[in-house]
Amino acid sequence: MIARIAPSILSADLSRLAEEIAMCEAGGADLIHIDVMDGRFVPNLTFGAKVIAAVREITELPLDVHLMVVEPENYFDDFAKAGATGMTIHTEAAPHLQHQLARIKELGCTAGAAINPATPLSAVTEVIGDLDLLLVMTVNPGFGGQRFIPGSLDKVSRARKLLDSHGSGATLEVDGGVDRNTIRPLWEAGADTFVSGNAIFSAADPQAEIEELRKRCVIAV
Ligand code: DX5
Ligand code: ZN
Repeated sequence: MIARIAPSILSADLSRLAEEIAMCEAGGADLIHIDVMDGRFVPNLTFGAKVIAAVREITELPLDVHLMVVEPENYFDDFAKAGATGMTIHTEAAPHLQHQLARIKELGCTAGAAINPATPLSAVTEVIGDLDLLLVMTVNPGFGGQRFIPGSLDKVSRARKLLDSHGSGATLEVDGGVDRNTIRPLWEAGADTFVSGNAIFSAADPQAEIEELRKRCVIAV
């Protein structure tokens, strides 16, 4: 398994977004994570299609778009047009999850499902075959810089087993409070893709921080 690091631009200095993204590229980031919040599913407002399109203009990296919104299907077409590589929607806001995932793929994007800390893994068991990515939230979504919820480690191990037992090759992503201390146990639990905002962008040397995070994801000896 190879670890992928996905800096979340939620914590970037948005007045210097192009430089921040160039720095992520130089640090070897694998994806750029874009947190879309609507002030309804979560109590915060962030980015929409225009920002996705702007980021698409300035990087070749895949854009990992995390939709923390109600009625996510209202945004699929615009986000695909704007250049999203993948879209991840929350099971808590997706009563027709199977259909919604299929629509994301129809638009040429990879399709992911996210589960909040209180949502059981059983929310995705019936759609494992439809998933390109499973996102296990390790904080309650809405804000960057929150503390990692320790109980989510066990959930990540169970998610890994669940994917493996179904022969799924889906990416297992974690998001929230991922830093130098939490990334190694998450990697050992079976996560392969690590969203990190605060730890990267508040570091004295963000580029070196990306490298540090990656270094902690090596096969245990
Ligand atoms: C939280 C967002 C995260 C956030 C992570 O609602 O989905 O992507 O940016 O930030 P950190 O790494 O600061 O917890
Ligand atoms: Zn996110």
